[in-house]
Amino acid sequence: METSPKFRGFQVVPLSGSLGAEIIGADLSAEITPELARDIAAAFRHFHILCFRDQALDLDTYRKVARLFGPFSGNPIHVALPGYPEFVRVVKEPQQDGPTFGGNWHTDLSWFEAPPKATMLYAEEVPPYGGDTMFANLHLAWERLSPTLRGMVAGLTGVHSGYGAYGVNAALKSVKVVDEGWEVSRAEVEHPLVPRHPETGREFLFVNPNVVRIKGMTEAESRPLLDMLMQAATRMDTTCRLAWRAGSLAVWDNRCLLHHAIGDYPNFRRVMVRTTIAGDRLPAAKINAAA
Ligand code: SIN
Repeated sequence: METSPKFRGFQVVPLSGSLGAEIIGADLSAEITPELARDIAAAFRHFHILCFRDQALDLDTYRKVARLFGPFSGNPIHVALPGYPEFVRVVKEPQQDGPTFGGNWHTDLSWFEAPPKATMLYAEEVPPYGGDTMFANLHLAWERLSPTLRGMVAGLTGVHSGYGAYGVNAALKSVKVVDEGWEVSRAEVEHPLVPRHPETGREFLFVNPNVVRIKGMTEAESRPLLDMLMQAATRMDTTCRLAWRAGSLAVWDNRCLLHHAIGDYPNFRRVMVRTTIAGDRLPAAKINAAA
C-alpha cells in the first residue's frame, strides 16, 4: 500500500502495511453527503477493508449504509432476520462449543456467478478480548509469487462450489441454514484463478476453500497447487487483524481479500450482524506474468 491518502470528513488509521484502515470521525447514522460517500468509496478501493468505529446502527440505518456499497447479493444458505432478508445475526453464546462461524481463511459465496463485491459485519456485542478477524490481501499474494509461478498460474480457471461451505455452516450453532441450501450450493461455477478486479483492474489471486479443483485437472492433481497458493495468500505480511469493539462496522472487499474469524473467546458472547453486497462477474486478467 502506498502512503495513506487524505480524506475529508474522517481520519484513517491503517491496520497494517498491507491492507485495512480504521475510520474515525464519520457518523454513518447522520446524513451521508455525496462528498462523504465518494471519499468512503475511495478509501474502500485503497484499503480494501474499512472499520468504522463508534457507530450506533439499527437495522434500518445499517440497510441505508449498506446501500452505499450496492444492492444486496442474495444469500441462499443462511436464515435471514425477519423483515430484513439481507441480514443474518451470528451469535456465539458463552458456553457454546464447536467450530467458529467463519473460523478458517475463506471468501463468502465465491461460488456465485458474480461473487459478492463486499461483506459487512456490525458488532453488536463483543468479548472483552479475543474474537478478532483477520484479512489477507490477494492482490499482494499474486504480486509476490515468483514470475515463473505466475506464468504457470495465469490463465488457469478455478472451479468453485459452495457445497463444503454449506456443510460447515450446517454444523454450526451460531447461524441457521436454509434447508434447500444443500441443493443450491451444489452448483459449480468457474472463475479465472487470476481475475482483474472489476473496479480497479488490478489482478488478484482468487483462491479460497470453495475452489474444489482447477479446470482440466482432477481434484487430486489440483490439491497440492491450491494448497500452496493458499499458503502464499495467507503469509503474515499480506494480512491485517481487526480487533472489534461494540459499535464497529467493517466492510471489506470480498473478491480480493480472504478473511478468518478467530474463535479464541470461550465463556464470552459475541453477536455480529452480517450482510453481503452484490458484485460483478470477474474478468480474466490480461497478464504479462514476468512483469
Ligand atoms: C464471516 O466469516 O463472515 C464472519 C467473520 C467474523 O465473525 O469475524
